[in-house]
Amino acid sequence: MKQTAAIILAAGRGTRMKSDIPKVLQELHGRPMIQFVLNALDEAGVGKKLIVVSKKDEKAIKKKFPGADTVVQKKLMGSGDAVRSASQYFSGFNGRIVVLCGDTPLINKETIKRLIKTHQKESASCTVLTARVDNPANYGRIVRDDSGNVAKIIEEKDLSIYEEVIEEINVGAYCFRRKDLFNFIKKIEINKKKKEYYLTDLVEILRKNDKRVVSASCRDENEFIGVNSKVELAKAAKVIKQKVLEGLMISGVTIVDPASTFIDMDAVIGRDTIIYPSTIIEKNVAVGKSCKVGPFTRLRPGTRLSDDVEVGNFVELNRTEVASGTKIKHHTYFGDAYVGKNVNVGAGSITANYDGKNKNKTIIGDGVFIGVGAVLIAPIRIGKNAIVGAGSVVTKNRNVPANKIVAGVPARIFKERRKNPR
Ligand code: UD1
Ligand code: CA
Repeated sequence: MKQTAAIILAAGRGTRMKSDIPKVLQELHGRPMIQFVLNALDEAGVGKKLIVVSKKDEKAIKKKFPGADTVVQKKLMGSGDAVRSASQYFSGFNGRIVVLCGDTPLINKETIKRLIKTHQKESASCTVLTARVDNPANYGRIVRDDSGNVAKIIEEKDLSIYEEVIEEINVGAYCFRRKDLFNFIKKIEINKKKKEYYLTDLVEILRKNDKRVVSASCRDENEFIGVNSKVELAKAAKVIKQKVLEGLMISGVTIVDPASTFIDMDAVIGRDTIIYPSTIIEKNVAVGKSCKVGPFTRLRPGTRLSDDVEVGNFVELNRTEVASGTKIKHHTYFGDAYVGKNVNVGAGSITANYDGKNKNKTIIGDGVFIGVGAVLIAPIRIGKNAIVGAGSVVTKNRNVPANKIVAGVPARIFKERRKNPR
């Protein structure tokens, strides 16, 4: 069977983004935009991928994706020229080539699969992904011949008033037979208005050379949002955010106010956990079952909550693990901490985990009670069932033995805790 490879166009100037950061590295739901395209290709089973980058952005893109294959488009002369600069890379390759734009991050794996399947089934030279939309502004339009076949693609700037009404647009995703792609790409002429070589002109060239051009359709209108500006970046982010939240809700998580909740796409959250408004859950976070999180909670990377944990308002947890039944309900910052089972953390307690050089650990045993406003200077261990008095400063390495009560600034042991209260 013929192999499928992909070219991702990412060399454009990105002028409309008005940014010093390359367009395809703009953050979308906590990840560089192009990551979504790469993931969709992986999921669609396309392993071999080449990213076309500009000289200016090469370093930044390589730094983010050290394993990726890239080729530099020397002069930014349009999407046709960008694909042409990939020809060398594919010289020994005889399969199909999917071409996607790095700024169409919402394209999904099913659509890519359908594009490839149509291309195969139709034994086409080129398959264009198209969609029908209410507002086709800023997209290339699909012109069909009398038999209904794709004849050419016209860019917005070159439309005649008769063509402006065309509602079928070029999504910006294509599948080509390698040989035809690189043979005919040389025939694209420069567009006089934009001084660019348009990849989209290839469609008409292929047709004129009796090559078969077909289309596959894309039904979800969100999928082809082309992210050229920060306005579209926010629009795409909103779609991703909603999808992530819906996935969690379907799996049994209650999200009280989706509009004010941000949850990373890889976060794992157990059923019957309730997420209250204005909560942020970042990447690499896992939350167990039947927890209560928020309102106004931020769970940062590396945080793990076991089952039945309550984390309340204005609590920030960073690389912190919390065992079951523990409550951290108000105004707390814990970093690099392990908090055992059934611990109660009083309002405003803080770990001082950073000494200016290193991040140090705080370990809090099961059943500990931490009074309001305690400061725990790491590295520090608080033994099981100990009590830390309100307003205490527990200094580093002055580990608190199990069952003791400490208090003061600096905290000193002054009592044995009466009975194990829990
Ligand atoms: C392009 C299509 C348009 C389609 C739309 C979908 C062309 C000529 N037009 O328009 O038909 O409806 O996408 O979103 O292709 N790029 C390079 N090098 C360059 C120029 C561009 O790599 O010299 C890359 C860009 O990074 C981008 C892609 O090619 O990923 C498309 O370029 P862009 O300028 O965004 O084209 P659009 O005007 O959006
Ligand atoms: Ca674009």
